[in-house]
Amino acid sequence: MKAWAKIDCALADYVDDNWLRDSAVKRRLREETAKLSAGGMQIAAHQGQQIVLLARAIGARRAVEVGTFTGYSSLCIAEALPADGKLWCCDVSEEWTRTARRAWKEAGVDSRIELTIGPALGTLDWKALPGNSTSPS
Ligand SMILES: C[S@@+](CC[C@H](N)C(=O)[O-])C[C@H]1O[C@@H](n2cnc3c(N)ncnc32)[C@H](O)[C@@H]1O
Repeated sequence: MKAWAKIDCALADYVDDNWLRDSAVKRRLREETAKLSAGGMQIAAHQGQQIVLLARAIGARRAVEVGTFTGYSSLCIAEALPADGKLWCCDVSEEWTRTARRAWKEAGVDSRIELTIGPALGTLDWKALPGNSTSPS
């Protein structure tokens, strides 16, 4: 038995057409990022929707993302958190995350997100995360 089921294009299109709940900001960000030469690094829209589902299903209040890029997945996570939730983001690129910061602000979730620029190995020293002196629970 195969461990992974393949999603073919027709199924991906069906999911996107019938299940996707993209806000205008997310759709714009996705389209803008897709035009970049590195745009293939962005997660697919249906993967973003799955992140939202999972975060809501477990009632996530805090999250960590390694590799933010232009912000699509972080936007999905942040929108799934409660207003006082927190998402710590790590990336090494000021340039790509500038786009992310703009999208977070446009979507009104920037106050839930703390971005640290630098290699994640250093950032993920939990005590080094901004505003954090205790371990996650
Ligand atoms: C595949 S992309 C992430 C895609 C993103 N989650 C999205 O949904 O659009 C990988 C990201 O990891 C970042 N990255 C690479 N090495 C890193 C490191 N050592 N620490 C933190 N981020 C890193 C890159 O700059 C890039 O933005």
